[in-house]
Amino acid sequence: MQRIAIYPGTFDPITNGHLDIIRRAVKIFDTVIVAVAHNEGKNPLFGIEERVSMVREAVRDIPGVEVDAFHSLIIEYCQKKKAVALIRGLRAVSDFEYEFQMALMNRKLDKDVESVFLMPKEKYSYLSSSLIKEIAAFGGDISCMVPETVHNRLTRKFAEKKERK
Ligand code: COA
Repeated sequence: MQRIAIYPGTFDPITNGHLDIIRRAVKIFDTVIVAVAHNEGKNPLFGIEERVSMVREAVRDIPGVEVDAFHSLIIEYCQKKKAVALIRGLRAVSDFEYEFQMALMNRKLDKDVESVFLMPKEKYSYLSSSLIKEIAAFGGDISCMVPETVHNRLTRKFAEKKERK
């Protein structure tokens, strides 16, 4: 039987830290579906289609990865895809409380889907999509934090925003 895991997130945008987690997850599972949440509550900079296409470009060379968008409870999405696990990254102790609460809530909703936590390389432990966007907005160097395609899109996005002002 194929062991499918779901790696959900807002991915606004995907970072090298997220990619590090995906590369670890494909070593454990047959298929890893990167599931991009609409998450309007977070007021994303990039629309859902842009986020999905950035993830697709970034994982192109990693076998065993699929990319999709979802607009439901993550546990319902796991059931639809017959996934056995939910992957989440833990960057630091500060992530733990929120992740612990989410994992227990998801277990309450479906006891058969296990949450699996993976730790990225230390050099990615301080990355977050918000900080990267903030640095990019001020023209700072983010080249070692995101894939090149994401870098280009961020530069273009902030240039467009500047022009509109
Ligand atoms: N490298 C770099 N950054 C990382 C990272 C890593 N390995 N792991 C997490 N992050 C960052 C993200 O960039 C993001 O940064 P930001 O807040 O500055 O944008 C932050 O950590 C957490 O974001 P993310 O991993 O995208 O998760 P999220 O908290 O935005 O999304 C969902 C959480 C989408 C999984 C959750 O809201 C969900 O499941 N929603 C569906 C509805 C549902 O089922 N709700 C009930 C849940 S119990």
